Amino acid sequence: MSALEPLLEFLSIPSVSTDPAHKEDVRKAALWLEAKLQALGFRTELHETPLHPILYAERLLDESAPTVLVYGHYDVQPPDPLELWESPPFSPTLRDGRIYARGASDDKGQLWAHVAALEGLSARVNVKFLVEGEEEIGSPSLLPFVRASREKLRADVVLISDGAMFAPLTPTLTYGLRGLAYLEVRLQGAKRDLHSGAFGGVAPNPIQALGWFLAKLKDEGTGRVLIPGFYDRVRPVSEEERRLWPPLDEAALKGELGVEVLPGEEGYSPLERLWARPTLDPNGIWGGYQGEGSKTVIPAEAGMKLSMRLVPDQDPEEVAALAEAYLRAVCPPGYTLKVLRLHGGKPVLTDPHSPPMRLMAKALEEVWGRPPVYAREGGTIPVVAELQDALHAPVVLLGLGLPDDNLHAPNEKLDLVNLEKGIAVIRRFYELLSEA
Ligand code: BES
Ligand code: MN
Ligand code: MN
Repeated sequence: MSALEPLLEFLSIPSVSTDPAHKEDVRKAALWLEAKLQALGFRTELHETPLHPILYAERLLDESAPTVLVYGHYDVQPPDPLELWESPPFSPTLRDGRIYARGASDDKGQLWAHVAALEGLSARVNVKFLVEGEEEIGSPSLLPFVRASREKLRADVVLISDGAMFAPLTPTLTYGLRGLAYLEVRLQGAKRDLHSGAFGGVAPNPIQALGWFLAKLKDEGTGRVLIPGFYDRVRPVSEEERRLWPPLDEAALKGELGVEVLPGEEGYSPLERLWARPTLDPNGIWGGYQGEGSKTVIPAEAGMKLSMRLVPDQDPEEVAALAEAYLRAVCPPGYTLKVLRLHGGKPVLTDPHSPPMRLMAKALEEVWGRPPVYAREGGTIPVVAELQDALHAPVVLLGLGLPDDNLHAPNEKLDLVNLEKGIAVIRRFYELLSEA
């Protein structure tokens, strides 16, 4: 496949957006993509930001033709732990019909499908690309850019591939994403670390207090989040929507995760808990002595990272404020509590039956030989809600990955069949759109 060689090149650029040591590599990835789009006849603009550049490109053929705005991100997550990779993360490797590399699925491979689909395409469509290098750190520069660039970005359809198909060989249209509120919680007890014998009995222990916090955040019996107001804005799932959902193979999911139960909120199916219910999960916790052997110490400080996945119509700012207020209310005396609000993103719902979704369903059916399933996804793409608000255009989420692609983990991969069919689907979509 001629689309493959350049993708391997793209994947070998370590564009890790969170790591200052890779700042130049992130830029290199933007410039690499810019050159590819220029070669396809695009006029490009590289917009500098305080962190990583935003690439905007357009190929406008005809005022009267439909305009598609493609969004993607060229930044990737850090590759660690490196020792768990079977081949190095930035030496893309073909194995068993898959490309293994950091970014293969999230999102360089999927973004590349949209570039490769344009090669030799004769359909009469105007195409715009909006590509960022800060998605994995919460899109801080892109959100204001979108608000300020409505005119430039105006389109009839927003097309995004940065997610997964429901299952292998199962063409999928996604109409929902969860949002995110992310907090770092820091607790200080005494002003310095203390001997646990000399001071145990009178000293506040911030690790213990973190344990109390965690116990008060979620009910062990029901799995419900105990933050007052947390569920207030959760939109219930309609019967009509539920009928749209494919059956979830729970045994396969358990097998894939290597677990015997799928714990979660009581009263909701695993699929509803993944797609339409909010969650709260500690993502990291620290404090005290972590080294070999024992050290008798009561640490002065401890902390944790808390992520909350949100669903329509929850608002990340509001939920973060509710969580912070609750933590302050339940914080025992003798501790200094600091709550930092890290990045977030709004949840998204799109119309699964909008005209471009119908066209994409047709393209998927033609290419895969079977109609698509309709799915929501549990992950977050911060700019999507912003694009909906700013452009009022229907959004089509066409995930080309798979649930077992190892996003953000060692041995990230993309199945070649997904790339190949993805390119064919996108091309067919443009043809159908230009005829519509
Ligand atoms: N592509 C993912 C989002 C995603 C994952 C969508 C799985 C659908 C299924 C994206 O790159 C991502 O990782 N987003 C972050 C957002 C955060 C950094 C603001 C996420 O969901 O944690
Ligand atoms: Mn992504
Ligand atoms: Mn990601």
